[in-house]
Amino acid sequence: MSNNTKTLEAIKYTRGNLSILNQLVLPHETLFETVLNVQNGHAAIKTMKTRGAPAIAIVAALSLAVDVYTRQQDEEFSTVDQVVRFLYESLEYLKTSRPTAVNLFDAAGKLWTLIQATAAEAKEPATVVNAYIEAAEQMLVDDVKDNKNIGKFGAQYILENAKDKENISVLTHCNTGSLATAGWGTALGIIRDLNANGKLQHAYCTETRPYNQGSRLTAYELVYEEIPATLICDNMASALLKQNPSVQAIVVGADRVAANGDTANKIGTYQLAIAAKYHGIMFIVAAPSTSIDLNTKSGDDIVIEQRPSEELVTVSGVRVQDDEPTCIRIAAADIGVWNPSFDVTPASLISAIVTEQGVVLKNGQSEFDMTSFLKK
Ligand code: MRU
Repeated sequence: MSNNTKTLEAIKYTRGNLSILNQLVLPHETLFETVLNVQNGHAAIKTMKTRGAPAIAIVAALSLAVDVYTRQQDEEFSTVDQVVRFLYESLEYLKTSRPTAVNLFDAAGKLWTLIQATAAEAKEPATVVNAYIEAAEQMLVDDVKDNKNIGKFGAQYILENAKDKENISVLTHCNTGSLATAGWGTALGIIRDLNANGKLQHAYCTETRPYNQGSRLTAYELVYEEIPATLICDNMASALLKQNPSVQAIVVGADRVAANGDTANKIGTYQLAIAAKYHGIMFIVAAPSTSIDLNTKSGDDIVIEQRPSEELVTVSGVRVQDDEPTCIRIAAADIGVWNPSFDVTPASLISAIVTEQGVVLKNGQSEFDMTSFLKK
């Protein structure tokens, strides 16, 4: 057990200043890059320098906060209408960066509602600017608090439902830790909570091909946080479950949870849920309520982002002999490529959805009622 409470920080923000940890070069290099405006924010998200559903929303919101702050300092806005138009167009632009994680759209919607309400009463553009900045900053603060609660509720659920409470190991997929959020993490936050309370025997993380969020980012976080952990290839998961009964839960994050609980998450999540069902272990989705999209009835309506074929046929890293960054081709030239970034796990395969407000269960049904849960 480790009492380590140190946490990685991927988003550094003070009013007027934002920098993000470039996740394309992790774990080989720690490189912070300055985000000066919405163009920088959009590019960081689209190229996946910053990634993970909550982090995408927060970096988008904060990139606009620093942009509008600078413009306000430069006295660019002379009317309320002018600043409202700028904020509207910027939010619309940021929404085009990546399509699947709903947190971005949720944040943009909430911020736009606030802008409109503030503008209706405002006499000076500064009033709208300040209200926007404060709301965006609050998102950064709230995310860490929400993640700690997800960690607590998720660990409690696992402990209550584990068949062997003394031997609890957990498998996770993709990266849902401090790098994917404002801090602490969602699914990885549950693992951290179990570990901090001496209840975790071992964590396993998948490599998460093709972008390798597991081997590059989650493995990095687990090592950093001194959590006992082992990396596996994606295609080893079922074999692990068969030969290691201590693995009693698979815990993953979410990019979008539909109203019935169907969940879009990193490609490979669905096959893990099938394996969990076959082996009779818990399959848990951990996500803040900002990942729940009540406007999407089921997983069939979720837009799945297709990523460039280059991400599948090449691998970037550093050379073994001298740590020099390099990119190599690993597939036959001219082969066709299908590269969906996410898949949808049907609610029927999910044991529980853990949010900062508590754990959602199916209560004997085949689907979750996320609408009633959020209305409580
Ligand atoms: O393509 P990515 O790296 O942005 O995908 C990330 C995931 O699928 C995560 O599991 C999800 O966003 C939750 S992060 C707390």
